[in-house]
Amino acid sequence: MTESVTASALVDIAGSLARSVGQMIHEKRAAGVDVAATKSSLTDVVTEADREAERLLTEGLRSLRPEDAILGEEGASVAGTSGVTWVLDPIDGTVNYLYNLPAYAVSVAATVTDGAPGTMSDGRRAIAGAVYVPTTGELFTAWHGGGAYLDGARLSGPAETELLSTLLATGFGYTVERRTEQVEVLRQVLPRVRDIRRMGSAAVDLCMLAAGRLDAYYERGLQPWDYAAAALIARESGAVVRGLGENAPGEELLIAGTPAITAELAGIIAEAYRTLQ
Ligand code: IPD
Ligand code: CA
Repeated sequence: MTESVTASALVDIAGSLARSVGQMIHEKRAAGVDVAATKSSLTDVVTEADREAERLLTEGLRSLRPEDAILGEEGASVAGTSGVTWVLDPIDGTVNYLYNLPAYAVSVAATVTDGAPGTMSDGRRAIAGAVYVPTTGELFTAWHGGGAYLDGARLSGPAETELLSTLLATGFGYTVERRTEQVEVLRQVLPRVRDIRRMGSAAVDLCMLAAGRLDAYYERGLQPWDYAAAALIARESGAVVRGLGENAPGEELLIAGTPAITAELAGIIAEAYRTLQ
């Protein structure tokens, strides 16, 4: 089987699991949510719904794709023999979920580690992915070389614009050190753009960009599950997804948008980090 045949089959699995688990967490939300535990800091929370969603995604994948590996934000870790690893974020935007704010999503990506173009800084390259946003019922999907889609309609990414007219999304990490640095970078960026959005889900941000509802996005400190599916969706919509300088996008930095805007932002952000050192 060629990679594109495999990837288009995997995207169906990703989409149907993300949707069914997303509908489950959405229903569960109506009954109320409590923090089950905190992780990297007091602000980094996990709910029972995150755990239940990851368990259902893992069970679904184990029965449909028993030879694949699985890596999940809440600890899922399954070894495989096929060369495909599923990277799962059961709820991206957990703080929004806790507060009943709409920007949260289930993210499911099938990745490989062949070093081909599109490989992220964690060494993985998504070949198929889905992000389901339960509050709007929107399903974003993409597979490598096959384009990005919202409920089956092809997406064409952000339009060309000036930096000063750029609606720019970003996000912040959970530790005091990371946030202190991030606010300094934001001080350099904010006066140069139309406005900033901090919606609270990296996966949603990147899908909004793919749908042309944002012009650009950047963040430092993302983990593979935050971006695995959504960075593929952004890239397949036609957006550039890049890192700092020549580095692969990922934890150090992920910038997405048009070629011109991502280049300008990369310069400003690199300079801001240089002055922080
Ligand atoms: C977080 C969200 C947020 C981003 C953080 C992520 P979580 O994921 O994507 O927008 O700014 O960096 O950790 O904790 O809600 O799964
Ligand atoms: Ca996340």
